[in-house]
Amino acid sequence: MKLWSGRFDKDTDALVDELNVSIGFDSRMLPEDIRGSIAHAGMLGAQGIIEQTESEKIIACLKEIQADIEAGRLEFSRDAEDIHMFVETELTRRIGDTGKRVHTARSRNDQVALDIRLYLKKEAAEIKALILELMKVILKLAEGSLDVIMPAYTHLQRAQPTTFAHYMMAYANMLLRDVTRLEDCMERMDECPLGSGALTSTTYPIDRHRVARELGFSRITQNSLDGVSDRDFVIELMGCLSILMMHLSRLSEEIIMWCSWEFKFIELDDAYATGSSIMPQKKNPDIAELVRGKTGRVYGNLIAMLTVMKALPLAYNKDMQEDKEPVFDTIDTVKKCLPVFAAMLDTMRLLPENMRSAAGAGFINATDCADYLVKKGLPFRDAYTIVGRLVNYCIANNETLETLSLEKYREISPLFAEDVYEAISLETCVAARYAPGGPAPDSVKAQMEYISDFIRSRTSS
Ligand code: ARG
Repeated sequence: MKLWSGRFDKDTDALVDELNVSIGFDSRMLPEDIRGSIAHAGMLGAQGIIEQTESEKIIACLKEIQADIEAGRLEFSRDAEDIHMFVETELTRRIGDTGKRVHTARSRNDQVALDIRLYLKKEAAEIKALILELMKVILKLAEGSLDVIMPAYTHLQRAQPTTFAHYMMAYANMLLRDVTRLEDCMERMDECPLGSGALTSTTYPIDRHRVARELGFSRITQNSLDGVSDRDFVIELMGCLSILMMHLSRLSEEIIMWCSWEFKFIELDDAYATGSSIMPQKKNPDIAELVRGKTGRVYGNLIAMLTVMKALPLAYNKDMQEDKEPVFDTIDTVKKCLPVFAAMLDTMRLLPENMRSAAGAGFINATDCADYLVKKGLPFRDAYTIVGRLVNYCIANNETLETLSLEKYREISPLFAEDVYEAISLETCVAARYAPGGPAPDSVKAQMEYISDFIRSRTSS
């Protein structure tokens, strides 16, 4: 029999239960539901809304229920509809009428709003820690590759020389923003909605601040209609995680390219690659491909939730039960991807010679060659045209700027002298870019220090 059966003459149809029942997925919020009920019952006792002895009995029994579930002595029952009904039914089965008092001055609407906030606060903190672990791996990769020269691209065309360390620090900065974005999101999520009741609070003399404090919230929600119907924090978290996955998918794409024979900048460890069932030569970057693919799934969950909430009138509507599966799926997906992605990066082998030869073959020092002429007094636009002509000649004659004879250089401009070779060496090109943010080793070291200070500020507490 349903807890709300008083107003009804019949049981719900089996098909209705099939659609309505959420315990299959919301049971993962059991610890949060129990914690919330313990805080609520404690407050009811302290405020004299129920007897102190009853409050104590409820709290003790809630703890037993959690322990029994965790030890496998008690199973979730589908008759319960959702996790909140399950706990209340079990409480009443165990301690009778006293159990029935736990729901005084509360509704499932503020209860579920509380549970999901508690749950997401915990998960967001765990994900933040996983991102910081990934940042450490990226930092380690940068440490070993400060002078590993590779081409940097625009339009996927070789553009200018950089180093692998500089490249890695670009991703470290994206992840840093992912962490601070999560922190912002967690800060906004940090409000306790319990006490909002079904939608217009309650007539009992409750103490919302006490409950909020006990549950580790910084403050209470300010309006009861909003308190039960706000799911911004769910969407915001999914937004943060979508951006995070977008970053991982960009690096995944690079990894996939770098593994190809066309690039061969890296070699994945055997433990983080897979073979083909038919082509014996294959070593496939499946992990990176899956992370790239799962990004679509995480975006889909965000769009699903934005669509669920679109045009919902105040206050609680059952549509909102649809928040859980997408946000849980996003969390599970991100938590699965982050550690394996970090391990894949941690174990991959760099192939610096291949990066170096790619860097040597694409005229990526052409800008530096033009800058050389500018230093000799030529306006940049004229220098640009001269170097364009040089490159054109090299392509036609299978030469590079490094192999071209000084004679040929001087035929095109007499401003060229022996020191041009030094000026266009890739090491010189990289070292010259020592401006903050640039690829010169000292500049990258400063970038790494910034990132490692950030990681330390978030992990040493
Ligand atoms: N299981 C519901 C949810 O996840 C909470 C219960 C509120 N239901 C209700 N009919 N008032 O949103």
